[in-house]
Amino acid sequence: MKATIATLPGDGIGPEVMVETLRVLSAIGSKYGHDFTTTESLIGGIAIDETGNPLPDETIKTCEEADAILLAAVGGPKWSDPTSDVRPEQGLLKIRQHFGLFANLRPVKTYPALASHVPLRADLIEGVDILFVRELTGGIYFGQRKEMGDSDEAYDTMLYSRPEVERLAHVAFRAAQGRRNKVTSVDKANVLASMRLWRKTVVQVAEDYEDVELEHLLVDACTMHLLTRPSSFDVIMAGNMFGDILSDEASVLAGSLGMLPSASLGAGRFGMYEPVHGSAPDIAGQGKANPIGMLLSLAMLLRYSLELEEEARAIETAIDDVLADGLRTPDIASKGEAVCSTTEFVDAVLAKL
Ligand code: NAI
Ligand code: MG
Repeated sequence: MKATIATLPGDGIGPEVMVETLRVLSAIGSKYGHDFTTTESLIGGIAIDETGNPLPDETIKTCEEADAILLAAVGGPKWSDPTSDVRPEQGLLKIRQHFGLFANLRPVKTYPALASHVPLRADLIEGVDILFVRELTGGIYFGQRKEMGDSDEAYDTMLYSRPEVERLAHVAFRAAQGRRNKVTSVDKANVLASMRLWRKTVVQVAEDYEDVELEHLLVDACTMHLLTRPSSFDVIMAGNMFGDILSDEASVLAGSLGMLPSASLGAGRFGMYEPVHGSAPDIAGQGKANPIGMLLSLAMLLRYSLELEEEARAIETAIDDVLADGLRTPDIASKGEAVCSTTEFVDAVLAKL
C-alpha cells in the first residue's frame, strides 16, 4: 500500500526516538512491500524558536495531507516560563482539536521481564493487557466553568451528550472485538446525572455487539480493582477526567513511562500517535531514551489508521523478543544489569524483523 505519515519529532528526546522509529517504519515497508512516505514538520518548542508559533499553519497543512500523524514529544525548561503566553504544549491541544480526535487509546501491558519494576506482586500483574479508551474532547475538562473573582466559590460542569458517548462506545466495543471481547465501562452513575446518561447509552450501544461482554464499574471501585485484579480487564472505557486519572494509575503496571504508546482517533481512520512520555530533558542527547513507547505508537498507527494488523504485530512481537533476550535501556534495567543505548535496542528490533 501507499501511505503518507506526517512526523512531528518535537523537543528533547523526541527527535532521538523519532529517528529510530523511522528506521523500523522503513524496514516494515521493505519487508511487506509498502510505499511509506514521511513528511517532517515543526511542533512545540522548536516550532516556537523557528516561527514563534507552537503549531505553525504549515504543520497543520502537512498533517492534513497525510494519512496519520506520528508525534514524539514537546516541551522543556527552555520554554517553561509560566508568564509566557506561548507554550509548546499548546501545540498538542490545538492539533487534537483541529483534527477532532475524540478517542484516546492507551494500551498498558506488563512484561514478565520487567516484573521487578512494578510495585505489585508478580502473580498479580501476570498477563496484564489493558486498553484504555478515554473520551478526549468533552466532559468536565471542557464544560462551563467559573472562578468568581475573589469569591469563595468556583464551579466546573460535567456535560456529556448521547452522541459523544455513543461514538466513544463504538470505538471501545470494536477494539474489544479485536482483543478479548470485554468492555468495562467506568462511571459514577450512583451520584452524577451525566454518568447515568453515560451508562444508559453504553448499555444501548452494547446491543450491537452481542459477542462482547459488558461490565460496569464505579470509578472509585475501579481504582481498587486495577490493583487487585488488573489482569481481568480487557478494554476500559471512561470519560475524560476518569480516564485521565485511571490511565495514569495503570501506567505504573508497565514498569516505565518509556514503555507506553497512545493513539488519538477521530471519526475516520485518521489518527495521531504518540508515546505517553514527555520530552525527558534530563536524559536528552545521551542515547538513554527508551524507544518502546514510540515504537508501539507506530504499531498502533499501522493497526488503526492503515489497517496493517500483521505489520503492527510484527513490531510488537519483535519488542517482546528483544526484551526476552535481556536488552535494557537504563530506565528498565535492574541493579547491576547491563544497559544498551536507544540505537542498540532498535538495532536488535530490526534484527528480529
Ligand atoms: P517526562 O515524561 O518527559 O519525564 C518524566 C521522567 O521519565 C524523567 O525522569 C524522564 O527521564 C523519564 N522518561 C520519560 N520518557 C522516557 C523514555 N522514553 N525513556 C527513558 N526515560 C524516560 O515528563 P516531565 O519530566 O514531567 O516533563 C518534561 C517535559 O515534557 C515538560 O516540558 C513537559 O511539559 C513535557 N511533556 C510533554 C508531553 C508530550 O509531549 N505529550 C507529555 C508529558 C510532558
Ligand atoms: Mg494525565
